[in-house]
Amino acid sequence: MRLLGIETSCDDTAAAVVMDGRIAESNVLASQDEFHREYGGVVPEIASRKHVETLNAVIEAALARANRTFDDIDGVAVTCGPGLAGSLVVGVAAAQGLAYARDLPAFAINHLHGHLFANYLTDPDEPDRALPQTPFVCLVVSGGHTDLIEVQEPGRHRVIGRTLDDAAGEAYDKVARLLGLGFPGGPLLDALARDGDPRAFRFPRALMDDSTFDFSFSGLKTSVRYHLDANPEDAQTRAADVAASFQAAVVDVLCAKTLRAARALGVRTIALAGGVSANSMLRSQLRRLGEAEGLRVLVPPLAYCTDNAAMIACAAYYRGDLARVSPDELRADPNFAW
Ligand code: KG4
Ligand code: ZN
Repeated sequence: MRLLGIETSCDDTAAAVVMDGRIAESNVLASQDEFHREYGGVVPEIASRKHVETLNAVIEAALARANRTFDDIDGVAVTCGPGLAGSLVVGVAAAQGLAYARDLPAFAINHLHGHLFANYLTDPDEPDRALPQTPFVCLVVSGGHTDLIEVQEPGRHRVIGRTLDDAAGEAYDKVARLLGLGFPGGPLLDALARDGDPRAFRFPRALMDDSTFDFSFSGLKTSVRYHLDANPEDAQTRAADVAASFQAAVVDVLCAKTLRAARALGVRTIALAGGVSANSMLRSQLRRLGEAEGLRVLVPPLAYCTDNAAMIACAAYYRGDLARVSPDELRADPNFAW
């Protein structure tokens, strides 16, 4: 089954063609970073306008790069939420139009399911990458979410923990702004932290030892702000040390909770997903600690960590009838829950 995926939940305009939920024949993304940069964050009205301008071309490019036409497509999968309302409706309207015009089945996909299913895609650099074996625990870390998920089988899962305040990606972006790094902050902070000492400053690791699987990152962000208020020169002279120390606090908590969840549930596989799963320290530390406990650690190929449409088509393949709707039932749902 070959599905066309469409993703416009935030500021990336994306379309992809995916075969059997496994092989991305194309994965096209038009980034809007240059239009939001001067505002230091995503401006919803700009995001939806840019989706309107570029989505048709992005869909055409996804078909062309896959060497396919609409005649080769068996269904259309689209992100219905969660996300920005004005952004979501652009993708949903396009999918609806295509499903009607081409008489194709439509799949209403939750963006977070998409991130999780990114682990089922192969990597051109790693073609024999194994499929995740259920049950497993998946840490979904993005700009809006930090959720720990118990996956019982593909398409059946339960949220066992979540952030009580800021998401991990949000904390990265806010601390990047405190350090004057620009937009988007997460990857810039990741790069800067490589030159810093993660033990230079001891920032708090909230809820690290508590028995729940919930997270909290707003205190950490505030603690970095207080440190920079008291030592303004550190934002210039020791920015890499601040970045590395902040990152160590985030990654320590994310890894500790994920490993604890695996132990508590008795699962032998853990997986990462969402934009922050592109983070170099999180990928390496979770691998190292997980493998030391004899666990299988899955991290999605880098191209499928941050927002993309291949993960949306992949999720549709695995969710099947659970996601299938008639085109007139497709609706943007900005608060779509797990
Ligand atoms: O999943 P995603 O692309 O969009 C949402 O669904 O939110 O995640 C975006 C988030 C942003 O907060 C971004 O700063 C963060 O992921 N991010 C990173 C890295 N790459 C993206 N955070 C830390 N290190 C990275 N390398
Ligand atoms: Zn996302």
